[in-house]
Amino acid sequence: MGTLKSLFENNRRWSERVSQRDPDFFAKLSRQQAPDFLWIGCSDSRVPANEVVDLMPGELFVHRNVANVVVHSDMNCMSVLQFAVEQLQVEHIIVCGHYGCGGVRAALSDRELGLIDNWLRHIKDVYRVNEREMRGIADADERVNRLCELNVIAQVRNVCHTTIVQNAWARGQNLTVHGVIYGLSDGRLKDLDVTVDGPAAIDDIYHMQLPETVRN
Ligand code: CO
Repeated sequence: MGTLKSLFENNRRWSERVSQRDPDFFAKLSRQQAPDFLWIGCSDSRVPANEVVDLMPGELFVHRNVANVVVHSDMNCMSVLQFAVEQLQVEHIIVCGHYGCGGVRAALSDRELGLIDNWLRHIKDVYRVNEREMRGIADADERVNRLCELNVIAQVRNVCHTTIVQNAWARGQNLTVHGVIYGLSDGRLKDLDVTVDGPAAIDDIYHMQLPETVRN
């Protein structure tokens, strides 16, 4: 069983190891961060953002929540997004789901779980929009996994619909949004090929006449 003491020991060994490889590593990082990527992923302990893409501290700005959901009224996620895009000027936003997501599985069931049901409602909405396809999948696990993919695709759209991302594109900022999914059983990421790098791919109803575009 994990104890806090063992975590401190792990931490000491890790920091020594990193310092041996690069004695200035922590001193350099403590002055500033300049990550190129914002990662929006699931809180699941089996999908640790930095590890699965083998990046060091400082290389990935991270937001995680249950089932990697992006909601425009979630001040937490929107604040991360705004800071990443406007201050850090990340060039890529990666929405990463994973197969076998417990949040997605729970959203597919009718069991009441408490507060989290309100959060998982967003995934039920994804199901409803794709109901015809979902009903056509007989196998329960396959249904979960397809909804995991559809959820990523929906959340990529949600990222693109925000005023934060639309404003960045209107300013001419180089910003690309990607949807990927992680396989718990093989540790591999799959690109869902839903990359968006400008407002052209956004549904009309979400398009905004932003101050920057009006000026042009
Ligand atoms: Co999950």
